[in-house]
Amino acid sequence: MPTISKKGRLMPESPIRKLVPFAEQAKKDGKHIYHLNIGQPDIKTPEVALQAVKDNTVEILSYSRSEGSETYRTKLAAYYKKHDITVDPKDIVVTTGASEALLFLFSSIMDPGDEVIISEPFYANYIAFSTATGVNVVPAICDIDDNFALPSIETFEKLITPKTKSILICNPGNPTGYLYSKEEIQQLADLAKKHDLFLIADEVYREFVYDGETHYSILQLEDMDEHTIVIDSVSKRYSMCGARVGCLVSRNTTVLQTVLKYAQARLSPPTFAQIASEAALDTPQSYFDDVIAEYVDRRDTLIKELQQIEGVKVGSPKGAFYCIVELPIKNSDNFAQWLLEHFDINGETVMIAPAGGFYSTPGLGLNQVRIAYVLNRESLIKAVNIIKEALKVYKD
Ligand SMILES: Cc1ncc(COP(=O)(O)O)c(C=O)c1O
Repeated sequence: MPTISKKGRLMPESPIRKLVPFAEQAKKDGKHIYHLNIGQPDIKTPEVALQAVKDNTVEILSYSRSEGSETYRTKLAAYYKKHDITVDPKDIVVTTGASEALLFLFSSIMDPGDEVIISEPFYANYIAFSTATGVNVVPAICDIDDNFALPSIETFEKLITPKTKSILICNPGNPTGYLYSKEEIQQLADLAKKHDLFLIADEVYREFVYDGETHYSILQLEDMDEHTIVIDSVSKRYSMCGARVGCLVSRNTTVLQTVLKYAQARLSPPTFAQIASEAALDTPQSYFDDVIAEYVDRRDTLIKELQQIEGVKVGSPKGAFYCIVELPIKNSDNFAQWLLEHFDINGETVMIAPAGGFYSTPGLGLNQVRIAYVLNRESLIKAVNIIKEALKVYKD
């Protein structure tokens, strides 16, 4: 048989999706599963977005411009303005989700063998995008005991080598819920400038910030236009994961022109989904107020329930809708699979994401899981109770 590529062999499985066959089997066996494993919110998509697609009378579903439709990018620039981020429509390339934006960006700014420093644990697919582009991930390890704050800037600086091209943060963070302060962002910016690096922020959870905190975007930094690139998406903001619309925003024209070449090669982002995304920008603030209140309630419920389990450690997430939880077990891959295969309470069990896949450092995260609080309060309480009872009988 012809062989597949080394890159292909190295591509990691998604830690979030690899347990799906066991979940499917559990469902076939009649079990109900509480899905805490995946960031698919149960929140309704704004009516304005869905209505715009229903009302559309388009007769030819044509390609849009490679950089995204003019009207959408113009309205997006106005959206950023509302968030104190001044950008021009020409600073935006619309992509098929943040995923494609990351892939185009990695390809545009880094060569095989180059290094990207990422605060760890991180969104698991960063490994997939770096593997696909031959880029090496250098982790800046963050600790649950520090609530996943950045390591000191001196420690961070020691990670920089002649191969380093960029620093990537996710703000607020998936999987940690960590929210970077303005000071931390400024420190990273100073470092990026000093060593002439790109500073990339994945800000797909920008709106999901709690406890009266505010989100500080890297595009608000002064004198950093050549260095800063934001990755964004409608997936979580409007609970529109299936629209597959994201974007890349930067004032660095060379970066944008390079990204655009990749965008041209794939022709265009989805036309209907851009119509929905453009309309979604008219979503009233009350929608976000309700959604944020709901997530705060879920987070508080989840953390409170988890803290009552002996041997469990959990940080205090300030944003997004995830947290990393340390469990009194040795291997969360085995535990997560066992929950699906061998455990239930009255026919109900839980699916969690083993956290090993959110680390590039071998051995880290093995006793941790990521929980996405994308279910309502009652379901969360039941799901945590299942974990609690499971831990009483589970043998590593
Ligand atoms: C941090 C982060 N970045 C990017 C993505 C991918 O987003 P999209 O659905 O826009 O491709 C996700 C999806 O969960 C995410 O959590």
